[in-house]
Amino acid sequence: MKTRITELLGIEHPIVQGGMQWVGLAELASAVSNGGGLGIVTGLTQPTPKDLLTEIERCQSMTDKPFGVNLTILPTIKPVPYDDYAQAIVDSGVKIVETAGRNPEPYLAMFKEAGIKVIHKCTSIRHALKAEKIGCDAVSVDGFECAGHPGEDDVTNLILLPLAARRLKIPFLASGGLGDGRGLAAALAMGADGINMGTRFMVTKEAPIHDNVKQRMIEATELDTALIYRSFRNTARVFKNSVAEQVVEIESRPGEVKFEDIQPLVQGVKGRELFDGGDLDKGIWSAGMIVGLIDDNPSCEELITRIVAEAEDIISNRLRGMISQ
Ligand SMILES: Cc1cc2nc3c(=O)[nH]c(=O)nc-3n(C[C@H](O)[C@H](O)[C@H](O)COP(=O)(O)O)c2cc1C
Repeated sequence: MKTRITELLGIEHPIVQGGMQWVGLAELASAVSNGGGLGIVTGLTQPTPKDLLTEIERCQSMTDKPFGVNLTILPTIKPVPYDDYAQAIVDSGVKIVETAGRNPEPYLAMFKEAGIKVIHKCTSIRHALKAEKIGCDAVSVDGFECAGHPGEDDVTNLILLPLAARRLKIPFLASGGLGDGRGLAAALAMGADGINMGTRFMVTKEAPIHDNVKQRMIEATELDTALIYRSFRNTARVFKNSVAEQVVEIESRPGEVKFEDIQPLVQGVKGRELFDGGDLDKGIWSAGMIVGLIDDNPSCEELITRIVAEAEDIISNRLRGMISQ
């Protein structure tokens, strides 16, 4: 397939692996890129900018294909030296960055000067238009189905993607709720130039997380996600385990909820321990509704090849067959 995204990023297939805290290590990013997609190393998973540089070098030693780095700019309890992370990305020689969270404008000039293409991930059309206006090369449009932060508008991709197609000039990726060839064909039909997947790539051989997590996600249905932090207007979609259910219960109590009330349950370090040790009720982890459509643990290359083959078959046989000759 040839789309504006494959052309812009210099990749074979229009499939991108979004940044994932604790999961986006060199093993996964390089496997996605070697499979013909675009892998992304997650910047803030590395404790310091120097560690990020080392992780990028490790990824460079594992693939000679393009890959990117995610820089998620969000308010955090502990201050993050974002400027130094951005500088590490420039110094590494990587040519693609996925930004997310806040407006990436402060870093655009330095990225552009270094010849870096910037894909900004956003959950609304107004933010996508803003990203286009400030000079981002592409956007990822994250619908309400997505893992992580879907924003507060609750608009699904069936609406967001055609809106993006109508209003944006720059190429865009459909993100959220995608994981098979039907999804890819539908996203392209709605005007997207490719897809961005998070949850689906967690259940691949190369994803550096415990098999218990992968197995639980294979067993899960589309009903197995929960929305937390709604009361803080910082919604996150996570896997519905006992910890997520406790958080939802605390947030639904009458009166104002304080972050301290849930903080012990949602600590990032516990999520990391869960991924490493496989104790599924240790903490919380991001997961999207696409878990309902995941039923195996392939390699990234197998997954990407299968998705593209399914989508090509739908486009050239099923859809073409519906048009009278
Ligand atoms: C475990 C996990 C961690 C994530 N961490 C981040 C992150 O640190 N920064 C970010 O921009 N997006 C993060 N995301 C969101 C993904 O990049 C992507 O936008 C999202 O997963 C797309 O929806 P999907 O899961 O339905 O494919 C994460 C997703 C998952 C599943």
